[in-house]
Amino acid sequence: MLAVAMFVRWIGLGALACLVGGLGVDLLVLPGDAAELVPTRRRLRVWGFVCVVVVAIATGAELLLRARTLAGGDLGHAARAVPLVLSRTHFGAIWIARLVLIAASLVVAAVAARGARAVALALAIGVALTSALSGHAADWGDVTPSVLLDWLHVLAASLWIGGLAALTLAVFPAAPEATGGALTRACARFSRLAAWSLAVVVLSGIYNAGGQLPDVAAFRDTPYGRVLLAKIAVVIALVALGATSRYTLLPRLTGTPARSVVARGVRRCQLAFSGPVRAPWSRLVTVVACEAALGAAVLGLTAVLGESTPARHAGHVSHVADVDAGQTPVHATMEQLHQAGGVPGGWMFRLPGGDAARGRAVFGRLECFRCHRIAGESYPRPSAPGPELTGIGAQHPAAYIAESIVNSNAVIVEGPGYTGRDGRSTMPDYRNDLSVADLLDVVAYLASQSGVHRHRP
Ligand code: HEC
Repeated sequence: MLAVAMFVRWIGLGALACLVGGLGVDLLVLPGDAAELVPTRRRLRVWGFVCVVVVAIATGAELLLRARTLAGGDLGHAARAVPLVLSRTHFGAIWIARLVLIAASLVVAAVAARGARAVALALAIGVALTSALSGHAADWGDVTPSVLLDWLHVLAASLWIGGLAALTLAVFPAAPEATGGALTRACARFSRLAAWSLAVVVLSGIYNAGGQLPDVAAFRDTPYGRVLLAKIAVVIALVALGATSRYTLLPRLTGTPARSVVARGVRRCQLAFSGPVRAPWSRLVTVVACEAALGAAVLGLTAVLGESTPARHAGHVSHVADVDAGQTPVHATMEQLHQAGGVPGGWMFRLPGGDAARGRAVFGRLECFRCHRIAGESYPRPSAPGPELTGIGAQHPAAYIAESIVNSNAVIVEGPGYTGRDGRSTMPDYRNDLSVADLLDVVAYLASQSGVHRHRP
């Protein structure tokens, strides 16, 4: 199932990148007035339309997968849970916005005017925001630097990688002679755009990696770090290819030699590596196609990262171990356990420690504040029934708090709207939204609440 989720995410990322890249090439790279480019523009429009359709399909599939994790069971089961996911979860709220944006994009993609393409680009930028809001970057809340930078990262990478794909599949089928040099000028412009995108991608990528990886060793020690390393390696290969077209091929095509130190260095490497180039245009077409393929690999690795647990949680585990040092283990043989009735005498379920600060973020991300007030915190006022949790840590042991979250029906507190018509707790089931680390952290956060209650039923 994880492989399916990664594949769907990959297709979604790829189609969004192709959409943004295609619109970017049309609006920012191709000269606006060139009559020779009319057929190219027509191809780009069809390309954009296909991309929106694929984004729509991938978005639907991601929703279905999300519903399946929530409801379990087969696809029919999952499909029936979709309204619940849309109406009750944070992901659902973001996905509704995404679906609206995609529906608008479909309408706009059918319009030929240049203005419509600017609108389409704005809509696609909005769709990219919903990706950032539903990914790891939003673990600290919705309006944070990490979401903003992740958004920029997605946009710049889309412009670059999607632009390469659009050039390969929609622009290069035109014969360069037929466009009277417009095409080579456009390539030079794209190369500058790609350089700017690269700068944004690298800077925002460094910030994101800093948030997801606790230290440099995590590159080696965690699966997340190793995939990230592979992604960086592919990006470096992509940049190297981009440099050869920028410094060795484009100057020959446009007749404006590049004389900077970098340009000379790249030219020398290229000569040593593959000898003089006889047909620069066809070489450029090949290089750009290779770059687009590498770009697809980068997006694939990004999809793998999106579905994996960030390394910061791995670091978190060792941090928690310190907290647990106070708990002494009980040693017993299997026989002793069986004789004592299955558990050691005086046994109680013990919860390992968690990270209260992270738990606070989990509380915010899952919007527990929709039903629970905590005095002294700045959450919005609760809009649905639930007991106030101010001071809960002073009144209940951690294991009880954990039970209230994973099995809210074990003990149902009496209160208005707390019990549903089916006789069960109205608190949502979080089994698919909380990792074990999330649970421990949110319990640590609640256990640290020892404030005074104002009105607890
Ligand atoms: C839709 C409303 C709703 C949401 C959202 C909600 N809860 Fe609850 N919660 C309740 C209700 C109602 C009860 C009381 C009934 C019960 O004990 O199950 C409750 C009880 C609890 C209790 C036990 C309180 C006590 O004093 O015994 C804890 C702890 C708790 N919730 C934590 C959480 C956490 C953590 C989240 C977010 C992950 C959350 N809740 C989200 C409605 C909600």
